[in-house]
Amino acid sequence: METPLSKHLWWQEGVIYQIYPRSYKDSNQDGVGDLPGIIKRLDYLQWLGITAVWLSPVYPSPMADFGYDISDYQGIHPLFGTMQDFDRLIGEVHRRGMKLILDLVPNHTSDQHPWFLESRSSRDNPKRDWYIWSDPKPDGSLPNNWLSVFGGSGWEWDEPTQQYYYHAFLKEQPDLNWRNPAVQEAMFSVMRFWLDKGVDGFRVDVMWHMVKDARFRDNPVNPNYQPHMATYEQLLPVYSTDQPEVHELVMKMRHILDEYPERMMIGEIYLPIQQLVTYYGIDGKGAHLPFNFQLLQLPWDAQQIAAAIDQYEGVLPAGGWPNWVLGNHDQPRITSRVGKEQARVAAMLLLTLRGTPTIYYGDEICMRDVAIPFEEVQDPQGLNMPDKNLSRDPSRTPMQWDNSAFAGFSEARPWLRIAQNYSRENVSAQQNDPGTMLTLYRRLIQLRQQEPALMTGEYTPVYADKQVIGYMRKAGGADAFLILLNLSHRPAYIRLADEQLQGTVELATYPELEGIVVSGRINLNGDEGIIVRLKADQHS
Ligand code: GLC
Repeated sequence: METPLSKHLWWQEGVIYQIYPRSYKDSNQDGVGDLPGIIKRLDYLQWLGITAVWLSPVYPSPMADFGYDISDYQGIHPLFGTMQDFDRLIGEVHRRGMKLILDLVPNHTSDQHPWFLESRSSRDNPKRDWYIWSDPKPDGSLPNNWLSVFGGSGWEWDEPTQQYYYHAFLKEQPDLNWRNPAVQEAMFSVMRFWLDKGVDGFRVDVMWHMVKDARFRDNPVNPNYQPHMATYEQLLPVYSTDQPEVHELVMKMRHILDEYPERMMIGEIYLPIQQLVTYYGIDGKGAHLPFNFQLLQLPWDAQQIAAAIDQYEGVLPAGGWPNWVLGNHDQPRITSRVGKEQARVAAMLLLTLRGTPTIYYGDEICMRDVAIPFEEVQDPQGLNMPDKNLSRDPSRTPMQWDNSAFAGFSEARPWLRIAQNYSRENVSAQQNDPGTMLTLYRRLIQLRQQEPALMTGEYTPVYADKQVIGYMRKAGGADAFLILLNLSHRPAYIRLADEQLQGTVELATYPELEGIVVSGRINLNGDEGIIVRLKADQHS
């Protein structure tokens, strides 16, 4: 379907919201969230202004890595519901004018997937070459030094067939051999299965891991390794990830999506910016949105963040659409990283930058990482590693809906404990209060969706110092916006190059400031962020 060049597509104009289905809403009181639960909360998401929902995996899985170990790519895990529930979900999402994005995990399967059971059954099984098998070195040692992200070697010995298989993550998550065309075809048909059902896009898990060096060369030692880092960081994964051949595969996946109108692909890619942007593909025929994780990784420092925004804007390929993320199910929550006051500034940053924002569930109500006692740790990344602080459980706790027992998430004890402060920090307590984080998120989303300059307009940096980031968003003949964000707790003086500039504060992290007229000489309170409307006839 041809679209006029000036028109932006839904995934460029919209706001994506990530749901971790185990923790969103439990409808059958087993303590685990499910699809009917999500359906019950779609009105909330619509009220918030969300336009697309991404679900972490809901497929059948032994749950060694909470669904990222898939044993059937074309089914629904009974914990989450049935295929009828899924069909109902997609219908209800679309009925509200929203889009549905599924997680696709092509790098590895569960060790219980029938493909792997066959593959490991004998060396001459036709599916042997669907996974990455290797003999030991002649001296009997491991095939190479590659490490698992979750600790230890990436190689697991298979006694019956006397070979090793490679797993970038758990040994229960063997990596597929994407150099095998049969594997490619099998995964492409999985994509078509969901696209035929009307799914609007995929978030592709660990996209940069999909192809490995054909010669299995040893990874070099990381000269910057420090003892407090995860053991995986001891080596630089130059031969086990981000291989040149991956781009051909991403392009093939893109071709599948392009068989359907307006479908999209997000790539989960943790790489430096210069490498990240190569995943947009040649002529833009790669991922639509290679996830940009800079705001998750950089220290909360105005100068570093301002520089990173400008660098990213500068290296985006022609036609490459930007995107921004503050949190996800693998990372500490933004409120825990920067504190409650700065989390408001972060929300303003996320929702005023140029590019598609992705919101992690619960961040809109200021959910914090929850302390999970040692004996309750469930995440394999926490269980496998000597450092329990690497566990991702704290940022995966149940959504806090109200102040009833179990926070309105469930009537049964949830699979992971709920934040102690849930009786104060919850959707129903925040929904009708003008000063809350939820109200701020909703207003930021509404403004972004109403104003062409904020939704898709151009970005121009106008100010940066040790405390403050300032930029302008403009579109055609519409009103422009000046955004000034104080990333520190201390007051800040700002003198813009254009001192004559005049505008009115449209939205602020402290709502009392709204309506105030400001000029090019401004002082901000600590933790203050403002969005200033510049009337179309007053700016060029
Ligand atoms: C991705 C997922 C993470 C998972 C890993 C292995 O990074 O986001 O949750 O553990 O892949 O599938």
